[in-house]
Amino acid sequence: MERLAVGVLASGRGSNLQALLDACAAPEFPARVAVVISDREHAVALERARAAGVEAVWVNPKDFVSRESFDQALVRELDKRGVGLVCHAGFMRILSPAYVQAFAGRALNIHPSLLPAFPGLHAQRQALQHGVRVAGATVHFVDEGMDTGPIVMQVAVPVLPGDTEDTLAARILVEEHRMYPAAVRMFAEGRLQIVGRRVAVTEPSEESR
Ligand code: GRF
Repeated sequence: MERLAVGVLASGRGSNLQALLDACAAPEFPARVAVVISDREHAVALERARAAGVEAVWVNPKDFVSRESFDQALVRELDKRGVGLVCHAGFMRILSPAYVQAFAGRALNIHPSLLPAFPGLHAQRQALQHGVRVAGATVHFVDEGMDTGPIVMQVAVPVLPGDTEDTLAARILVEEHRMYPAAVRMFAEGRLQIVGRRVAVTEPSEESR
């Protein structure tokens, strides 16, 4: 079985990347991380990639005159490695329409809220400030908006009395680390189909069960 080549874009500590690397370490997992790309030279995510024997690439935004040319470089790096799915995992840059089109239907993002509530930065802080009782995380396809694409999976967690941004983020993160590999598996098995704003999910076949 040819495993799907996944590229991961990450700017920071890369705990979701680690969850993907760990899932891909299982021989029966239908995807492998082919490359990790960061806009930050010293991102922990790049160290995690190297530690797992995965190519780690720093693309320095300062080397490019525009967002578009930076994004074109990302597309080149991903294409060079035959990437069939890009996973955004804490990638802190807004991408141009050309990038989004290049990977339309082939790029996922994970966000620490139950979208469409609390898109953008500091989702957990927004949730606490709003006073919601239930928070969570979402995996969605990337489109041209900020955290707006068709939703693949969502998991809810309770907001508990006395929660801080950190305690809530930690509770959500546990679920993120389960959910992202599960979503990648479904994509790799060809079980996700975008139908307008919705994502239709088909049952696993006998052999992938
Ligand atoms: C996660 O909460 C993810 O949902 C959001 O950014 C955070 C990244 O964390 N997009 P990590 O770098 O994967 O640890």
